[in-house]
Amino acid sequence: MDSNTPGKLRSQQWWTGGDYYAFSRKAWLRSEGYTRDVFDGRPVIGICNSWSELNNCNAHLRTLAEAVKRGVWRAGGFPLEFPTISLGEMFLKPTSMLYRNLMSMDVEEMITANPLDGVLLLCGCDKTTPAQLMGAASANLPAIMVTGGPMLHGQWKDRKLGAGTDGRKLFDLYRTGKITDGEWCEIEGGLARSAGHCTVMGTASTMASVVEALGMTLPNCAAIPAPDSRRTTIAELSGQRIVEMVKQNLRPSDILTRQAFENAITVDMAIGGSTNAVVHLLAVAGRLGIDLKLDDFDLISRKTPCVVNVKPSGEYLMEDLFAAGGIPAVMKEVLPLLHGEAITANGHTVAENVASAECYNRDVIRPYDQPLSMEGGTAILRGNLAPNGAVIKPTAASPHLLQHRGTAYVFETYQQMRAEIDRPDLAVTKDTILVMKSCGPKGAPGFPEWGQIPMPKVLLEQGINDMVRISDARMSGTSFGTVVLHVAPESAAGGPLAAVETGDEIILDTANRSITLAVSDEEIQRRLAARPAPPVHYDRGYGKMFLNHVNQADQGCDFDFLRKT
Ligand code: FES
Repeated sequence: MDSNTPGKLRSQQWWTGGDYYAFSRKAWLRSEGYTRDVFDGRPVIGICNSWSELNNCNAHLRTLAEAVKRGVWRAGGFPLEFPTISLGEMFLKPTSMLYRNLMSMDVEEMITANPLDGVLLLCGCDKTTPAQLMGAASANLPAIMVTGGPMLHGQWKDRKLGAGTDGRKLFDLYRTGKITDGEWCEIEGGLARSAGHCTVMGTASTMASVVEALGMTLPNCAAIPAPDSRRTTIAELSGQRIVEMVKQNLRPSDILTRQAFENAITVDMAIGGSTNAVVHLLAVAGRLGIDLKLDDFDLISRKTPCVVNVKPSGEYLMEDLFAAGGIPAVMKEVLPLLHGEAITANGHTVAENVASAECYNRDVIRPYDQPLSMEGGTAILRGNLAPNGAVIKPTAASPHLLQHRGTAYVFETYQQMRAEIDRPDLAVTKDTILVMKSCGPKGAPGFPEWGQIPMPKVLLEQGINDMVRISDARMSGTSFGTVVLHVAPESAAGGPLAAVETGDEIILDTANRSITLAVSDEEIQRRLAARPAPPVHYDRGYGKMFLNHVNQADQGCDFDFLRKT
């Protein structure tokens, strides 16, 4: 039995039947001290927990799991917490993105292989959220998510800091000697002061917001700070709700419709969300057979104002957004652009959920007609340099660079860039366009967040803080600058980015959504044909599977065999 059917829970398949294995499953589970009551036909709720000491952003999730259990018991369910792989953004090499699909497989297989009727997903860092969502979408048992919430704001002297946007800005001051070693140590101790994910609108905050917009959490889950007691409360309420969802057989495929994805993209644009949301939403949609495309993001971006004034696009932090009314207040602001009738995890529609939402700070959540920018936070570029698309975040870029013509300075690899970027004789000016290759899903490998190429020291010393940068990498959602990312096909897969040479002219025209290499097609093909084959990074194990099956950025970088056909 693959799923719950009317009048019969899936878990009963494990407990009933009268054979030895039905007996032994119950006997072995009772070794944990449960009474026989747990087999009486109550829904078994898995609590899928990405807690790990190797993931500081998820360090509080065991506590939240206890609150979830209270809710499940109270609603008449039977909670069983289980661990999966966790992906600590700061620790995994070469990049956490290499392992997102692996974690999603772990989540899917542990949900489907165990006696579960529904699942509550506990997560929080950049990749744990999309990985759990992808796995749960494929498993398609009733599911609800509780994200871990943003950490407290950082503190240094009298400054309020947002991890990691302000860390990156301060690092440039440290590189140029404007911050001392002692001060840098103080910043290290004060930037991330609690459990929870990064407190700007980075990838984790974006994904939490987008999951709320998809309808997979209870309303207002995304922005409650991690240490806030109200996060514990919403965890308990979510535990209670998943039991009811099992009884109603409300599954991810009922919630994650095309309308829900369009709502999620609209909210992503309204919050100035991370460019990584594009990759993750494409991957989740692919698990459900929903034909979401890069161009859907651009279409929605063009008509959605960015109304959330949170770093890196704006000035405030996630806890300010929560105090201002959170994602429900944002969704109410852009409600005319949303599918208000879309159903959500609490059984109500989007319009019903946000009807009573209020905004308490009009500088944090701007009025629809006085936005931070008239268009959304993500634009999709195409052209002979990126035939299958590329991504830019105009709200975090320098306006004067969004239309730019410049000469390329090329780094063939990330390693070359790292070795040369601080060279005092680096031949670059403020108009140069930095190009970096071999940073895509296959090339790096794993599609790391190397796309915000550090500003050359020689330019920083002239007081220049931004320039156009282009690569087939991703960038952290906490990053900023005029950075073109996700160029597809990537250079290691034969994309034209591989053909760029230092001195070539490149034209970035964000208004017209184009990125052009001013070199003839014949010359591009000649250069590509002359290039040696890229190195193969793995000849065994998971890495080999990744290289053989990962899709390109414009398809979400999922494995081809995990997408629903
Ligand atoms: Fe986990 Fe930023 S490092 S969210």
